[in-house]
Amino acid sequence: MIIYVAKETDADEGRVSASAETVKKMKGLGFDVVVESGAGDRSRIADSDYEAVGARIGHEADAGSADVVLKVRRPSSHEITTYKNGAIVIAVMDPYGHEDALAEMARAGLTTFAMELMPRITRAQSMDVLSSQANLAGYQAVIDAASVYDRAIPMMMTAAGTVPAAKVFVMGAGVAGLQAIATARRLGAAVSATDVRPAAKEQVASLGAKFIAVEDEEFKAAETAAGYAKEMSAEYQAKQAALVADHISKQDIVITTALIPGRPAPRLVTRDMLKAMKRGSVAVDLAVERGGNIEGSQAGEVADVEGVTVIGYNNVPGRIAASASALYAKNLLTFLETMIDKNTKALALNRDDELVKATMLTDAGAVVHPKFAGGAYNG
Ligand code: NAI
Repeated sequence: MIIYVAKETDADEGRVSASAETVKKMKGLGFDVVVESGAGDRSRIADSDYEAVGARIGHEADAGSADVVLKVRRPSSHEITTYKNGAIVIAVMDPYGHEDALAEMARAGLTTFAMELMPRITRAQSMDVLSSQANLAGYQAVIDAASVYDRAIPMMMTAAGTVPAAKVFVMGAGVAGLQAIATARRLGAAVSATDVRPAAKEQVASLGAKFIAVEDEEFKAAETAAGYAKEMSAEYQAKQAALVADHISKQDIVITTALIPGRPAPRLVTRDMLKAMKRGSVAVDLAVERGGNIEGSQAGEVADVEGVTVIGYNNVPGRIAASASALYAKNLLTFLETMIDKNTKALALNRDDELVKATMLTDAGAVVHPKFAGGAYNG
Protein backbone atom coordinates (compact mmCIF):
# COMPACT_ATOMS: atom_id res chain seq x y z
CA MET A 1 0.00 0.00 0.00
CA ILE A 2 1.47 3.32 -1.07
CA ILE A 3 0.61 6.82 0.14
CA TYR A 4 1.73 9.72 -1.99
CA VAL A 5 2.13 13.14 -0.37
CA ALA A 6 1.83 15.61 -3.23
CA LYS A 7 3.57 18.96 -3.46
CA GLU A 8 0.92 21.65 -3.83
CA THR A 9 0.89 23.20 -7.29
CA ASP A 10 -0.89 26.44 -6.42
CA ALA A 11 1.58 29.30 -5.95
CA ASP A 12 -0.52 30.62 -3.04
CA GLU A 13 -0.35 27.37 -1.11
CA GLY A 14 2.45 26.92 1.40
CA ARG A 15 0.89 24.06 3.30
CA VAL A 16 1.56 20.36 2.95
CA SER A 17 -0.64 17.37 3.74
CA ALA A 18 1.80 15.36 5.86
CA SER A 19 4.30 16.18 8.60
CA ALA A 20 7.27 14.10 9.69
CA GLU A 21 5.14 13.00 12.65
CA THR A 22 2.25 11.79 10.48
CA VAL A 23 4.56 10.09 7.98
CA LYS A 24 6.09 8.15 10.87
CA LYS A 25 2.60 7.07 11.97
CA MET A 26 1.63 6.09 8.40
CA LYS A 27 4.76 3.96 8.18
CA GLY A 28 3.73 2.38 11.46
CA LEU A 29 0.35 1.56 9.96
CA GLY A 30 2.13 -0.44 7.29
CA PHE A 31 2.12 2.00 4.37
CA ASP A 32 4.98 2.92 2.09
CA VAL A 33 5.07 6.69 1.97
CA VAL A 34 6.37 8.63 -1.01
CA VAL A 35 6.70 12.39 -0.54
CA GLU A 36 7.02 14.56 -3.63
CA SER A 37 10.35 16.38 -3.47
CA GLY A 38 9.98 19.84 -1.98
CA ALA A 39 6.43 19.23 -0.73
CA GLY A 40 7.22 20.46 2.78
CA ASP A 41 9.67 23.24 1.91
CA ARG A 42 7.26 26.09 2.60
CA SER A 43 6.13 24.51 5.87
CA ARG A 44 9.70 24.15 7.10
CA ILE A 45 9.79 20.40 6.54
CA ALA A 46 12.78 19.37 4.42
CA ASP A 47 12.88 16.25 2.24
CA SER A 48 15.50 14.93 4.66
CA ASP A 49 13.04 15.29 7.58
CA TYR A 50 10.61 13.00 5.77
CA GLU A 51 13.39 10.59 4.82
CA ALA A 52 14.50 10.42 8.43
CA VAL A 53 11.13 8.91 9.38
CA GLY A 54 11.12 6.39 6.55
CA ALA A 55 9.56 8.17 3.56
CA ARG A 56 10.96 7.90 0.07
CA ILE A 57 11.33 11.18 -1.79
CA GLY A 58 9.70 10.94 -5.20
CA HIS A 59 8.42 12.93 -8.14
CA GLU A 60 5.18 13.37 -10.04
CA ALA A 61 5.68 10.08 -11.89
CA ASP A 62 5.39 8.26 -8.54
CA ALA A 63 1.81 9.49 -8.02
CA GLY A 64 0.56 6.84 -10.45
CA SER A 65 1.45 3.96 -8.16
CA ALA A 66 -0.22 5.40 -5.07
CA ASP A 67 -3.29 3.85 -3.46
CA VAL A 68 -3.86 7.02 -1.44
CA VAL A 69 -2.95 10.56 -2.45
CA LEU A 70 -2.88 13.23 0.26
CA LYS A 71 -3.23 16.86 -0.75
CA VAL A 72 -4.14 20.22 0.71
CA ARG A 73 -6.17 21.40 -2.29
CA ARG A 74 -8.29 19.68 -4.89
CA PRO A 75 -6.03 18.24 -7.62
CA SER A 76 -5.86 20.10 -10.93
CA SER A 77 -7.00 18.54 -14.21
CA HIS A 78 -3.38 17.70 -14.90
CA GLU A 79 -2.71 16.17 -11.49
CA ILE A 80 -5.78 13.97 -11.85
CA THR A 81 -4.28 12.38 -14.95
CA THR A 82 -1.22 11.31 -12.94
CA TYR A 83 -3.22 9.22 -10.43
CA LYS A 84 -4.27 5.63 -10.96
CA ASN A 85 -7.86 4.56 -11.42
CA GLY A 86 -9.29 3.60 -8.03
CA ALA A 87 -6.92 5.76 -5.98
CA ILE A 88 -8.24 7.48 -2.87
CA VAL A 89 -7.61 11.24 -2.85
CA ILE A 90 -8.12 13.25 0.32
CA ALA A 91 -7.98 17.06 0.33
CA VAL A 92 -9.92 20.25 0.94
CA MET A 93 -11.93 19.91 -2.26
CA ASP A 94 -13.85 23.20 -2.34
CA PRO A 95 -16.74 21.44 -4.14
CA TYR A 96 -19.41 24.18 -4.17
CA GLY A 97 -19.63 25.64 -7.66
CA HIS A 98 -16.97 23.28 -8.98
CA GLU A 99 -19.17 20.47 -10.24
CA ASP A 100 -17.10 20.16 -13.43
CA ALA A 101 -14.02 19.36 -11.41
CA LEU A 102 -15.94 16.76 -9.42
CA ALA A 103 -17.14 15.13 -12.63
CA GLU A 104 -13.57 15.08 -13.89
CA MET A 105 -12.38 13.29 -10.74
CA ALA A 106 -15.25 10.82 -11.08
CA ARG A 107 -14.37 10.08 -14.71
CA ALA A 108 -10.77 9.43 -13.66
CA GLY A 109 -12.09 6.69 -11.36
CA LEU A 110 -10.91 8.42 -8.19
CA THR A 111 -12.48 7.93 -4.80
CA THR A 112 -12.26 11.46 -3.43
CA PHE A 113 -12.94 12.93 -0.02
CA ALA A 114 -13.60 16.56 0.94
CA MET A 115 -12.20 17.11 4.41
CA GLU A 116 -14.24 20.27 4.90
CA LEU A 117 -17.47 18.22 4.77
CA MET A 118 -16.50 16.25 7.87
CA PRO A 119 -19.44 16.18 10.28
CA ARG A 120 -18.91 18.20 13.43
CA ILE A 121 -19.48 15.36 15.82
CA THR A 122 -17.35 14.39 18.78
CA ARG A 123 -15.84 11.39 17.03
CA ALA A 124 -14.62 13.54 14.15
CA GLN A 125 -13.34 16.50 16.14
CA SER A 126 -9.71 15.55 15.52
CA MET A 127 -10.44 15.42 11.76
CA ASP A 128 -12.07 18.84 11.60
CA VAL A 129 -9.96 20.84 9.16
CA LEU A 130 -12.35 23.78 9.22
CA SER A 131 -11.64 24.20 12.91
CA SER A 132 -7.92 23.55 12.82
CA GLN A 133 -7.36 25.96 9.96
CA ALA A 134 -9.89 28.63 11.00
CA ASN A 135 -8.35 28.75 14.43
CA LEU A 136 -4.99 29.72 12.95
CA ALA A 137 -6.62 32.13 10.49
CA GLY A 138 -8.30 33.94 13.38
CA TYR A 139 -4.96 34.33 15.10
CA GLN A 140 -3.20 35.45 11.92
CA ALA A 141 -5.91 38.02 11.14
CA VAL A 142 -5.07 39.88 14.34
CA ILE A 143 -1.33 39.66 13.62
CA ASP A 144 -1.92 40.98 10.08
CA ALA A 145 -4.05 43.84 11.40
CA ALA A 146 -1.51 44.73 14.09
CA SER A 147 1.28 44.76 11.52
CA VAL A 148 -0.29 47.62 9.53
CA TYR A 149 -1.94 49.44 12.44
CA ASP A 150 0.05 52.55 13.22
CA ARG A 151 -0.55 52.58 16.95
CA ALA A 152 0.12 50.24 19.84
CA ILE A 153 -2.63 47.74 20.62
CA PRO A 154 -2.36 47.57 24.44
CA MET A 155 -2.91 50.46 26.75
CA MET A 156 0.48 51.77 27.81
CA MET A 157 0.83 54.10 30.76
CA THR A 158 4.22 55.73 30.54
CA ALA A 159 5.94 58.74 32.03
CA ALA A 160 5.45 60.41 28.67
CA GLY A 161 1.73 59.80 28.63
CA THR A 162 -0.87 57.12 28.07
CA VAL A 163 -1.45 55.21 24.85
CA PRO A 164 -5.09 54.06 24.80
CA ALA A 165 -5.91 50.41 24.10
CA ALA A 166 -6.99 49.73 20.52
CA LYS A 167 -10.66 48.90 20.08
CA VAL A 168 -11.08 45.67 18.12
CA PHE A 169 -14.45 44.47 16.84
CA VAL A 170 -14.78 40.86 15.66
CA MET A 171 -17.76 40.04 13.44
CA GLY A 172 -18.64 36.35 13.41
CA ALA A 173 -17.67 34.50 16.57
CA GLY A 174 -17.18 30.96 15.28
CA VAL A 175 -13.85 29.20 15.43
CA ALA A 176 -11.84 31.93 13.64
CA GLY A 177 -13.64 34.75 15.41
CA LEU A 178 -13.19 33.29 18.88
CA GLN A 179 -9.46 32.86 18.26
CA ALA A 180 -9.27 36.43 16.93
CA ILE A 181 -10.97 37.63 20.11
CA ALA A 182 -8.56 35.65 22.29
CA THR A 183 -5.53 36.89 20.35
CA ALA A 184 -6.63 40.53 20.41
CA ARG A 185 -7.29 40.23 24.15
CA ARG A 186 -3.81 38.80 24.68
CA LEU A 187 -2.40 41.82 22.88
CA GLY A 188 -4.32 44.05 25.26
CA ALA A 189 -7.07 45.35 22.98
CA ALA A 190 -10.54 46.32 24.16
CA VAL A 191 -12.54 43.69 22.26
CA SER A 192 -16.18 43.43 21.25
CA ALA A 193 -17.81 40.88 18.98
CA THR A 194 -21.03 40.02 17.23
CA ASP A 195 -22.70 36.92 15.83
CA VAL A 196 -26.17 35.81 14.83
CA ARG A 197 -26.03 32.56 16.81
CA PRO A 198 -27.15 32.84 20.43
CA ALA A 199 -24.58 30.21 21.49
CA ALA A 200 -21.86 32.69 20.58
CA LYS A 201 -22.94 35.15 23.26
CA GLU A 202 -21.63 33.17 26.21
CA GLN A 203 -18.46 32.14 24.35
CA VAL A 204 -17.65 35.75 23.54
CA ALA A 205 -18.25 36.81 27.14
CA SER A 206 -16.12 33.97 28.47
CA LEU A 207 -13.18 35.37 26.49
CA GLY A 208 -13.63 38.75 28.13
CA ALA A 209 -15.14 40.52 25.13
CA LYS A 210 -18.36 42.50 24.94
CA PHE A 211 -21.16 40.88 22.90
CA ILE A 212 -23.12 43.10 20.57
CA ALA A 213 -26.09 41.78 18.58
CA VAL A 214 -29.71 42.25 17.67
CA GLU A 215 -31.19 39.66 20.02
CA ASP A 216 -34.69 39.25 18.62
CA GLU A 217 -36.77 36.10 17.97
CA GLU A 218 -34.93 35.39 14.71
CA PHE A 219 -31.60 35.53 16.54
CA LYS A 220 -32.87 32.98 19.06
CA ALA A 221 -33.55 30.53 16.20
CA ALA A 222 -30.51 31.33 14.04
CA GLU A 223 -28.45 28.23 14.77
CA THR A 224 -28.93 25.08 12.68
CA ALA A 225 -28.79 21.62 14.22
CA ALA A 226 -25.25 21.36 12.85
CA GLY A 227 -24.24 24.47 14.82
CA TYR A 228 -23.99 26.79 11.84
CA ALA A 229 -25.61 30.15 11.12
CA LYS A 230 -28.63 30.48 8.86
CA GLU A 231 -28.89 33.16 6.24
CA MET A 232 -30.73 35.97 8.03
CA SER A 233 -33.81 37.77 6.71
CA ALA A 234 -33.55 41.19 5.06
CA GLU A 235 -35.28 42.71 8.11
CA TYR A 236 -32.76 41.22 10.51
CA GLN A 237 -29.86 42.32 8.31
CA ALA A 238 -31.17 45.89 8.31
CA LYS A 239 -31.46 45.93 12.12
CA GLN A 240 -28.01 44.39 12.42
CA ALA A 241 -26.53 46.97 10.03
CA ALA A 242 -27.96 49.87 12.03
CA LEU A 243 -26.51 48.51 15.28
CA VAL A 244 -23.17 47.74 13.72
CA ALA A 245 -22.86 51.09 11.92
CA ASP A 246 -22.89 53.00 15.17
CA HIS A 247 -20.50 50.60 16.89
CA ILE A 248 -18.00 50.39 14.03
CA SER A 249 -17.53 54.15 13.89
CA LYS A 250 -15.84 53.93 17.30
CA GLN A 251 -13.51 51.02 16.43
CA ASP A 252 -9.85 50.98 15.40
CA ILE A 253 -9.72 47.46 13.98
CA VAL A 254 -12.53 45.32 12.54
CA ILE A 255 -12.03 41.63 11.81
CA THR A 256 -14.80 39.87 9.90
CA THR A 257 -15.12 36.08 9.81
CA ALA A 258 -18.82 35.52 9.04
CA LEU A 259 -19.70 32.57 6.82
CA ILE A 260 -22.80 30.57 5.96
CA PRO A 261 -22.08 27.06 4.64
CA GLY A 262 -22.75 26.74 0.91
CA ARG A 263 -23.81 30.40 0.55
CA PRO A 264 -21.95 33.60 -0.28
CA ALA A 265 -20.58 35.36 2.80
CA PRO A 266 -23.01 37.89 4.31
CA ARG A 267 -22.18 41.53 3.58
CA LEU A 268 -21.74 43.10 7.02
CA VAL A 269 -19.64 46.23 6.53
CA THR A 270 -20.55 48.84 3.93
CA ARG A 271 -18.42 51.60 2.45
CA ASP A 272 -20.38 54.11 4.53
CA MET A 273 -19.45 52.25 7.69
CA LEU A 274 -15.79 52.31 6.67
CA LYS A 275 -16.06 56.02 5.92
CA ALA A 276 -17.32 56.62 9.46
CA MET A 277 -14.25 54.94 11.00
CA LYS A 278 -11.29 56.95 12.27
CA ARG A 279 -8.41 57.65 9.93
CA GLY A 280 -5.78 54.90 10.10
CA SER A 281 -8.30 52.21 11.02
CA VAL A 282 -7.76 48.68 9.78
CA ALA A 283 -10.17 45.98 8.65
CA VAL A 284 -9.45 42.34 7.90
CA ASP A 285 -11.91 40.36 5.76
CA LEU A 286 -11.36 36.68 6.43
CA ALA A 287 -14.40 35.87 4.27
CA VAL A 288 -12.94 37.55 1.18
CA GLU A 289 -12.58 34.30 -0.78
CA ARG A 290 -16.29 33.58 -0.30
CA GLY A 291 -17.44 36.98 -1.57
CA GLY A 292 -16.38 39.04 1.43
CA ASN A 293 -18.06 40.55 4.49
CA ILE A 294 -16.67 44.00 3.72
CA GLU A 295 -17.72 46.10 0.77
CA GLY A 296 -14.65 46.95 -1.30
CA SER A 297 -12.40 44.23 0.08
CA GLN A 298 -10.36 42.59 -2.66
CA ALA A 299 -9.21 39.00 -2.66
CA GLY A 300 -5.46 38.77 -2.35
CA GLU A 301 -5.04 42.53 -1.80
CA VAL A 302 -4.47 45.11 0.89
CA ALA A 303 -6.68 47.97 -0.29
CA ASP A 304 -7.44 51.48 0.87
CA VAL A 305 -11.22 51.70 1.02
CA GLU A 306 -12.64 55.01 2.22
CA GLY A 307 -9.44 55.67 4.21
CA VAL A 308 -9.46 52.29 5.94
CA THR A 309 -6.76 49.71 5.22
CA VAL A 310 -8.78 46.65 4.23
CA ILE A 311 -6.77 43.42 4.29
CA GLY A 312 -8.14 40.67 2.07
CA TYR A 313 -5.45 38.04 1.99
CA ASN A 314 -6.35 34.75 0.37
CA ASN A 315 -5.63 31.52 2.17
CA VAL A 316 -4.82 33.01 5.55
CA PRO A 317 -4.00 29.62 7.14
CA GLY A 318 -1.35 29.31 4.40
CA ARG A 319 0.28 32.48 5.78
CA ILE A 320 1.10 30.52 8.90
CA ALA A 321 1.93 27.40 6.93
CA ALA A 322 4.19 25.52 9.33
CA SER A 323 1.59 25.48 12.10
CA ALA A 324 -1.33 25.00 9.70
CA SER A 325 0.36 22.02 8.02
CA ALA A 326 1.09 20.31 11.32
CA LEU A 327 -2.59 20.44 12.32
CA TYR A 328 -3.95 19.66 8.84
CA ALA A 329 -1.64 16.66 8.52
CA LYS A 330 -2.92 15.33 11.84
CA ASN A 331 -6.53 15.81 10.72
CA LEU A 332 -5.83 13.76 7.56
CA LEU A 333 -4.00 11.01 9.41
CA THR A 334 -6.83 10.59 11.89
CA PHE A 335 -9.32 10.24 9.05
CA LEU A 336 -7.08 7.84 7.15
CA GLU A 337 -6.76 5.67 10.25
CA THR A 338 -10.52 5.06 10.14
CA MET A 339 -10.08 3.52 6.67
CA ILE A 340 -7.53 0.92 7.72
CA ASP A 341 -8.18 -2.57 8.98
CA LYS A 342 -5.90 -2.80 12.01
CA ASN A 343 -5.39 -6.57 11.66
CA THR A 344 -4.67 -6.90 7.97
CA LYS A 345 -3.16 -3.39 7.70
CA ALA A 346 -5.05 -3.03 4.43
CA LEU A 347 -7.31 -0.25 3.26
CA ALA A 348 -10.86 -1.18 4.21
CA LEU A 349 -13.15 1.65 3.22
CA ASN A 350 -16.49 1.34 4.98
CA ARG A 351 -18.93 3.14 2.70
CA ASP A 352 -21.61 2.97 5.41
CA ASP A 353 -19.52 4.91 7.93
CA GLU A 354 -21.13 8.31 8.52
CA LEU A 355 -17.76 10.06 8.12
CA VAL A 356 -17.25 8.41 4.73
CA LYS A 357 -20.80 9.14 3.64
CA ALA A 358 -20.49 12.80 4.61
CA THR A 359 -17.19 13.45 2.88
CA MET A 360 -17.03 11.12 -0.14
CA LEU A 361 -17.52 13.12 -3.33
CA THR A 362 -16.75 10.61 -6.06
CA ASP A 363 -16.47 6.85 -6.18
CA ALA A 364 -16.43 4.13 -8.83
CA GLY A 365 -16.73 6.56 -11.71
CA ALA A 366 -19.55 8.70 -10.37
CA VAL A 367 -20.19 11.79 -8.24
CA VAL A 368 -21.80 10.13 -5.22
CA HIS A 369 -22.23 12.90 -2.66
CA PRO A 370 -25.96 13.66 -2.33
CA LYS A 371 -25.34 17.41 -2.50
CA PHE A 372 -23.48 17.20 -5.80
CA ALA A 373 -24.70 14.07 -7.56
CA GLY A 374 -26.60 14.92 -10.73
CA GLY A 375 -24.14 17.57 -11.81
CA ALA A 376 -25.27 20.53 -9.75
CA TYR A 377 -25.13 21.58 -6.15
CA ASN A 378 -28.48 20.66 -4.70
CA GLY A 379 -28.04 21.35 -1.02
P1 NAI B 1 -18.48 29.46 10.03
O1 NAI B 1 -17.06 29.53 9.59
O2 NAI B 1 -19.47 28.83 9.13
O3 NAI B 1 -18.99 30.95 10.34
C1 NAI B 1 -18.25 31.82 11.15
C2 NAI B 1 -19.19 32.57 12.07
O4 NAI B 1 -19.93 33.54 11.33
C3 NAI B 1 -20.23 31.70 12.76
O5 NAI B 1 -20.11 31.83 14.15
C4 NAI B 1 -21.55 32.24 12.23
O6 NAI B 1 -22.58 32.16 13.19
C5 NAI B 1 -21.18 33.67 11.95
N1 NAI B 1 -22.13 34.40 11.08
C6 NAI B 1 -22.80 33.96 9.98
N2 NAI B 1 -23.60 34.94 9.51
C7 NAI B 1 -23.42 36.03 10.29
C8 NAI B 1 -23.96 37.34 10.30
N3 NAI B 1 -24.84 37.73 9.40
N4 NAI B 1 -23.54 38.19 11.26
C9 NAI B 1 -22.65 37.80 12.20
N5 NAI B 1 -22.11 36.58 12.24
C10 NAI B 1 -22.48 35.69 11.29
O7 NAI B 1 -18.61 28.76 11.45
P2 NAI B 1 -17.52 27.96 12.27
O8 NAI B 1 -16.53 28.90 12.83
O9 NAI B 1 -16.99 26.89 11.43
O10 NAI B 1 -18.33 27.30 13.49
C11 NAI B 1 -19.69 27.47 13.74
C12 NAI B 1 -20.03 26.86 15.07
O11 NAI B 1 -19.74 25.49 15.12
C13 NAI B 1 -19.28 27.46 16.23
O12 NAI B 1 -20.15 27.55 17.33
C14 NAI B 1 -18.28 26.46 16.57
O13 NAI B 1 -17.85 26.58 17.91
C15 NAI B 1 -19.05 25.20 16.31
N6 NAI B 1 -18.16 24.08 16.12
C16 NAI B 1 -18.51 22.88 16.68
C17 NAI B 1 -17.67 21.82 16.56
C18 NAI B 1 -18.05 20.51 17.16
O14 NAI B 1 -19.05 20.42 17.81
N7 NAI B 1 -17.28 19.48 16.95
C19 NAI B 1 -16.41 21.90 15.85
C20 NAI B 1 -16.18 23.19 15.29
C21 NAI B 1 -17.04 24.23 15.42
